[in-house]
Amino acid sequence: MDNKYISMIETFLPTLLPGEDCYEKNLIESMKYSLLAPGKRIRPTLLLAFCEACNGNAEHALPYACAVEMIHAYSLIHDDLPCLDNDDLRRGRPSNHIVYGEDIALLAGDALQTLAFESMLSESALSKAGLNGAKAAGILARAAGASGMAGGQTIDILTEGKSPSLEVILDMYSKKTGRLIKAPCVMGCVLAGADDKKIAAAESYAESIGLAFQIVDDILDITSDTSTLGKPVGSDAENEKVNYVTILGIGQSRKKVDELTKTALGALDAFDKNTEFLSAFAEKLAARIC
Ligand code: IPE
Ligand code: IPE
Ligand code: MG
Ligand code: MG
Ligand code: MG
Repeated sequence: MDNKYISMIETFLPTLLPGEDCYEKNLIESMKYSLLAPGKRIRPTLLLAFCEACNGNAEHALPYACAVEMIHAYSLIHDDLPCLDNDDLRRGRPSNHIVYGEDIALLAGDALQTLAFESMLSESALSKAGLNGAKAAGILARAAGASGMAGGQTIDILTEGKSPSLEVILDMYSKKTGRLIKAPCVMGCVLAGADDKKIAAAESYAESIGLAFQIVDDILDITSDTSTLGKPVGSDAENEKVNYVTILGIGQSRKKVDELTKTALGALDAFDKNTEFLSAFAEKLAARIC
């Protein structure tokens, strides 16, 4: 399927990075290395697609879409560190800490996180987005923090080698992955000034594809190969992670992904525009191989 949003995102992203003409240029290079590496750009795509589904201006939403990608890139840099998953390959390249060292990788993650907020709250972004821009920034802050991604990553670490219930696994998924998928869907609607009915429908779509996304990620960690995936396979087993797939098996997990994808498609009835793109996108994510 054609994704017109990727070129918009990849043209705008580098314009947001700080200049490299400084003593600490290593830090900026390290941020750039991870942010501009070839990722799928799923989260910023969702933001722009929902913005357009609600008749909003995707150009004006770009600083917000790129901010979500920055938070995501930061989460990946930290996720790969030896103190978390200890993975040395990401997006088909050596992980950030392998190239720049753990100290710079840690700081690059920190700096990408704050750059996201700089981007969303700049005069130029807010002059186009108005109060909805500040609302979108608040949504992303909550999704990334202790009750969202950072909290979910903590559950992931605390459950290693243990026997958590399926309920705990689902809570972990919804926080570590789901929230950073739901946030851009809702932010896109909010930036377009959408009503509560559309926001609720975007949330429902996002909850389904978010859960399906992490289940597929956990399946691919078992069934794929490192060169296709661009990150090490078998990492979860090595770290004694307990997840949906280790509990229910690959067959049941695939069935769940298909059910969730159907539910996501149903939620799109609330929109009158761009639903073909968003339904094809959900199906593509469910069938992805990397
Ligand atoms: C990887 O996300 C982290 C998870 C939440 C599983 P993606 O699979 O979207 O990673 P990139 O951005 O394409 O590298
Ligand atoms: C991590 O989940 C989700 C994040 C918040 C980065 P994983 O640890 O399974 O992600 P990958 O497989 O390393 O991309
Ligand atoms: Mg992890
Ligand atoms: Mg990982
Ligand atoms: Mg994984």
